[in-house]
Amino acid sequence: MNIVLGVTGSISAFKAVDIMRLFQKDGHLVRVIMTASAQRFIAPLTFETFSPGNVFTDMFEKHQDPLAHINICRDSDLLLIAPATANIIGKMANGIADDLLSTAFLAFYKKVVVAPAMNSYMLENPVVQENLSKLKARGVGIIEPEEGTLACDYKGKGRLPEPQQIYDFCMKFAVGAVDV
Ligand SMILES: Cc1cc2nc3c(=O)[nH]c(=O)nc-3n(C[C@H](O)[C@H](O)[C@H](O)COP(=O)(O)O)c2cc1C
Repeated sequence: MNIVLGVTGSISAFKAVDIMRLFQKDGHLVRVIMTASAQRFIAPLTFETFSPGNVFTDMFEKHQDPLAHINICRDSDLLLIAPATANIIGKMANGIADDLLSTAFLAFYKKVVVAPAMNSYMLENPVVQENLSKLKARGVGIIEPEEGTLACDYKGKGRLPEPQQIYDFCMKFAVGAVDV
């Protein structure tokens, strides 16, 4: 499969490298789209090292394909956003396209999976829950965040599941073996 891996500005963004490596190990091509916030947590170079020429960071960057938001989607089978911030979930649910990742999502007409990761109070916020419900109702696969100690030291739900769990979910979702 060809995978688009969207990485957003969560403290767990570093785990996206292992997620990418799992797909690659099984022979899948991974193209990465990083938000500006994601790049505050992990350098594009880390992804670029493992997937040269396949890391996209800016819609208007002159060295990158100006139609990346369309072309990346054209021959990709699955868009996975992991970790997914409250912000990207809100944008996806409400049709906001103000960066490369949110624009690519609107142009993506195949399977989409989101792995939310955030503080438990953010996750429980009714607006975040409403946005997740909207996405689920539109057929987006939502990977349940895990309970545990969060980066902010709270205990609760909101942790990004382990890379292997995310990979397994995507493989099942891709063949329609997950109920949405
Ligand atoms: C240290 C730190 C950790 C953060 N972790 C998260 C997180 O895990 N989940 C989340 O939704 N937002 C988190 N944020 C807030 C997002 O980075 C912020 O909402 C940002 O605008 C998200 O942008 P993006 O969705 O375009 O990547 C964090 C911010 C900071 C400073």
